[in-house]
Amino acid sequence: MTVTISIGSGKGGTGKTMVIVNLALLLAKTGKKVCLVDLDLGGADAHILFGLFEPKRTLTDFLTRKVESIDDVIHTFYSFQGLQFIPGTGNTLQTANLSYQEKQRLLRALSSIEADVLLIDVGAGTNYHALDFFMFSDLQICVTLPDPTSIMDLYTFLQLATIRKVLGSFLSQSDVGIFLKNHNFTTLNEVFELAEKTREGTKAKAQLALKYFHPLLIVNRDGADSKVNKFKMRKMVAKYLSIDIPELGDIPEDPKIDESLKTYMPVCELYPKSPAALSLKAIAGKVDKIIGLFARNDTPN
Ligand SMILES: Nc1ncnc2c1ncn2[C@@H]1O[C@H](COP(=O)(O)OP(=O)(O)OP(=O)(O)O)[C@@H](O)[C@H]1O
Ligand SMILES: [Mg+2]
Repeated sequence: MTVTISIGSGKGGTGKTMVIVNLALLLAKTGKKVCLVDLDLGGADAHILFGLFEPKRTLTDFLTRKVESIDDVIHTFYSFQGLQFIPGTGNTLQTANLSYQEKQRLLRALSSIEADVLLIDVGAGTNYHALDFFMFSDLQICVTLPDPTSIMDLYTFLQLATIRKVLGSFLSQSDVGIFLKNHNFTTLNEVFELAEKTREGTKAKAQLALKYFHPLLIVNRDGADSKVNKFKMRKMVAKYLSIDIPELGDIPEDPKIDESLKTYMPVCELYPKSPAALSLKAIAGKVDKIIGLFARNDTPN
């Protein structure tokens, strides 16, 4: 089976691409077949971190049906065994307007990729594409900087993601689903309350939709102050969004990250002993364990 993991954030520039590229490399080194997909429709740039400046084939070729199969846009690397990569598209207008059918075709194609782990960089923000790509996965990672604005943006991102998840769970129950779809919600509680008003017992069903949604938290460019902010945020998220966000780890501020960016080589490869690389390795180790648990739980007895 393939375990799908997406990475997202409320605010841009929190370090998602840096994290996911290094995670992809580190997981591939454990012998897993890993596929990294750059679904940041507005600002795909993961290819740059691999030194691929003008990839021959990108996601655009698949989206515009220049190629029929998603396999035709998968890149492999001579130096990174076990790693597959689908570069994102630079064509922002065309892909930002992805229709429902096109999005379904893309998600179906992603599900068909042969890999042990599928990693998805969904980019920043709360547009429907970012939220849907984030929620499409089995596991989610969210990255924030320690400052209050980033944390607030992450809170908003998770709030909208949970609302979308809950609304999505009603799609098959048409009357409640259609009724709720026509409302513009700003808080999860509003969804719960209106769902219950529409039909008794629906609130419990809505809450159930979030039972397995526990996005894993990474605080990047970590400093001494972040401990307090993190604690406050987790408390707020647990109270108002009814979800727990387990900590995956922190990554310190590290100049080696920018240095590695300038040489187009992931930091774990170029400076494996740097503080950032050591934190990324610890995070990859935890993710590897979670993947193992997830795969085991999903295997029928
Ligand atoms: N721990 C760190 N220490 C120092 N610099 C960092 C660290 N993490 C990320 N950076 C730098 O921050 C910048 C943004 O990183 P990155 O592109 O990975 O963010 P992003 O979340 O993917 O951004 P976007 O939302 O635009 O896609 C890069 O220049 C990167 O080198
Ligand atoms: Mg990015």
